[in-house]
Amino acid sequence: MGATKADMVIRNAMLIDGSGAAGVAGDLAVTGERITAIGPSLVCGADVEIDAGGKVLAPGFIDAHTHDDRAVLTNRAMACKISQGVTTVVTGNCGISIAPVTIKTRPPGPLDLVCPSPDDFMPSFAAYFAALEKAPPAVNVVAQAGHTSLRVSVMDRFDRAASEGEIEQMKALLRQALKDGAAGLSTGLYYPPANAAPREEIEALAQVVHEEGGFHSTHMRDEADGVAVSLEETFRIGRTAQVPIIISHHKCVGLANHGRSGETLGLIDAARAKQQIGLDVYPYVASSTILNKDRVALSSRTLITWSGKADGLEGRDIEEVAAEMGLSVDATVEAISPAGAIYFLMDEADVKAIMAYPATMIGSDGLPHDRHPHPRLWGTFPRVLGHYARDEKLFPLETAVHKMTGLTARTFGLKDRGVLGEGAFADLVLFDPAAVIDTATFERPETPAAGICQVFVNGRGVWRNGAATDARPGKGLCGERFLTQ
Ligand code: ZN
Ligand code: CU
Repeated sequence: MGATKADMVIRNAMLIDGSGAAGVAGDLAVTGERITAIGPSLVCGADVEIDAGGKVLAPGFIDAHTHDDRAVLTNRAMACKISQGVTTVVTGNCGISIAPVTIKTRPPGPLDLVCPSPDDFMPSFAAYFAALEKAPPAVNVVAQAGHTSLRVSVMDRFDRAASEGEIEQMKALLRQALKDGAAGLSTGLYYPPANAAPREEIEALAQVVHEEGGFHSTHMRDEADGVAVSLEETFRIGRTAQVPIIISHHKCVGLANHGRSGETLGLIDAARAKQQIGLDVYPYVASSTILNKDRVALSSRTLITWSGKADGLEGRDIEEVAAEMGLSVDATVEAISPAGAIYFLMDEADVKAIMAYPATMIGSDGLPHDRHPHPRLWGTFPRVLGHYARDEKLFPLETAVHKMTGLTARTFGLKDRGVLGEGAFADLVLFDPAAVIDTATFERPETPAAGICQVFVNGRGVWRNGAATDARPGKGLCGERFLTQ
C-alpha cells in the first residue's frame, strides 16, 4: 500500500482474518470506519500507532444469539459484550423481540426476560432503529422479529393456533418489520405463548421472510426427548418457505438424551446437503431461561437468577430454598414465579461435539437483565478461545475465531463484517492468546474476561485497559440481507 496517512495503524500483530486461515504476522491500518490497508510492514504513517507486541488481531466477534434488544438502549456501554471482544450482537432470538409490539399489560414469559413492562416495547422496527441512531450503543445490532412478539400483539390468548385473520395481521407486521430493517424471523416454539402454534402458522410467516429476504431462527419445540422430531419440523419449515434456517443454541437436554449429539448432527449434516442451515451454541453444560417446573425436574441442579416475588434468592439453589420455605420444589416454583433460573442439564461431550461441528457459530444467549445471570453473558467468547481452543485443544485458535466472525457474518449475510480485509469495517479485537480466558462463574457471573486488550467498533476504540471508553460507535445494521452460502 502507498504512503497515505491513516487514522490508526496497529503494528506487529498476529493477524487472524476470520476465514479460518492460519494467522500471519503483519500490520493493519484504519481510516474512518474502515480497514484501509493490511500488510507485513506498512509504510504509511498514522495519527495513532499501536504496537500489538505479537498479540492476535482478529475481526470483532459477532454474538450470534442474544437477548440484548433493550440492553443496547438502556446500557449503551454494553460492557458485558465488548469486554469479551464482541462488536456486533444479533437480537430478537427465541421468538421474543422488543418490536413490533403494542400491549397494555406485563407480557407473558419469556418475553418478560427482555421487556418486563409494556412501556419497554417498540411499536415498530423503524422506531427501534431510530432510537439506536439517536442514542447509539457501543456495539452494532442485527435485529430479528420474534413470532411470540407478533402473537402477543395480535392475539388475546396463546393456548391455541392463530386464526386466519390473526395470521394475516402477523404477516403484515412482519412484512413491515423486514422492510424497516429486521433481519429475519425467530420462533420460540418450546415456550407456552408459542407452543400451540402449528407448523403451518410458522410456514405462513416464513413465506413473508422468503418474499422480503432474511432468515428464520428457532428455539425448537423440543430439545429433549423429541429433539429429532423438532429438527425435522425445522428443516421442513425451511424447505416449504425456502428460507435459510438457524437452529438456536443447539443442545440435547436431559439425562436420557445425553450422547445424542451424534444423531442430531448427523440429521443436520444430511439436511444441509439440501438446504441452508446454520446453528449456534454456547460453551456451557447449563442453560438459562424463565423458571419452569418441567425444566427443574429435568435438571441435576437449578439456580435461581431472579424472582419477581421474593428478594435475595438470586444465585441460590432451588432445593435449598424449598427446604427453607418448607415447600416442595414445585410449590416453591409457584411461590417465587415469575422468576428465572439456570439449569444443569447438558452433557459436556455433546456440548463439545456441537461446538466442533463445522457449521456451528458461537452465541452467548446471555440474559442481560437477570439479577444473577448465567456466566455465559460475560464469559462465552473468551471461554471458547481460552478454555476450549487453547486448553482443551478442541480446535485451532483460527477455527474458534472463524466460528465467532467469518462464519457468523456469512450465515447472517453481514456485508464487510467478520473479516480482516481492505475495505471491511474496522470492527476489531486485539487479544493475548496465552492469557485470554473467561473469569465469570456461576457464583460470580458478572466479571470481565482476561486477555482482551483492545476492542474497536467501526474504527473507534470501545474497550481499553480493562474498561469501556466513552465511545458509542455502534449501528443498527438494518440494510443487511442474507447471502447464499
Ligand atoms: Zn432460546
Ligand atoms: Cu435465547
